[in-house]
Amino acid sequence: MKYLRMMLVLLTVVLLGNTIVLADVPKPVIPKGNAEECVLPKEEMRVDHMNYILHQRDETMHRGIRTKKFSLKGCIDCHTVKDDAGKIVSYKDKKHFCNSCHTYAAVNIDCFECHASTPTAKGTISSTGGKK
Ligand code: HEC
Ligand code: HEC
Ligand code: HEC
Repeated sequence: MKYLRMMLVLLTVVLLGNTIVLADVPKPVIPKGNAEECVLPKEEMRVDHMNYILHQRDETMHRGIRTKKFSLKGCIDCHTVKDDAGKIVSYKDKKHFCNSCHTYAAVNIDCFECHASTPTAKGTISSTGGKK
């Protein structure tokens, strides 16, 4: 009897263990860009993207240097994601490219307080002063 109970406990542990292992561990769903490749290899962008755009912000804002390669407008134009209605989503939406990992990794950025998070004709700074 004692042996049986022991087996039952063991079995429960094994079954529960399996459930935990097999349960869907949520992973970020990262939408693909609208092109074959990024401005740099994907692996590099994944790790270093903030340095490129943050760096360029410093160069742009403080030294007046502009390069097109790491333009935030470029990122936004190529990395669009549409909702079910076919409308391009803004950073407020969890599906937005930049949000796909940030929500998962609990990263907060303030960029879209000023920059538009969807393509605009004029540039990333939206004509209405942001919050797009
Ligand atoms: C307080 C407002 C403000 C915030 C917040 C802000 N920017 Fe900017 N940013 C500007 C302005 C103004 C310019 C210069 C106008 C332009 O170039 O269109 C600029 C220019 C840039 C540029 C160069 C232009 C381009 O489109 O590539 C980049 C890159 C950039 N910002 C990245 C960022 C990133 C990344 C963040 C968040 C970490 C950020 N900015 C947050 C106001 C802001
Ligand atoms: C011309 C289109 C284009 C532009 C411009 C662009 N990207 Fe990309 N990006 C892509 C594509 C396509 C991929 C996926 C590449 C692949 O699967 O090999 C990608 C991948 C990435 C990834 C990795 C995503 C993952 O799956 O891990 C990051 C991060 C990224 N881009 C950020 C940026 C940032 C930041 C900018 C602006 C400086 C930018 N991209 C500009 C097309 C673009
Ligand atoms: C592949 C996942 C992924 C994608 C896609 C992605 N990010 Fe990030 N981003 C991260 C992670 C993870 C961090 C935090 C890295 C760290 O803390 O060292 C981060 C950090 C940042 C930072 C620095 C925040 C800070 O205060 O240090 C900026 C700016 C940024 N991302 C901008 C963007 C923009 C703009 C896009 C869309 C064009 C984008 N990211 C798309 C994963 C991603």
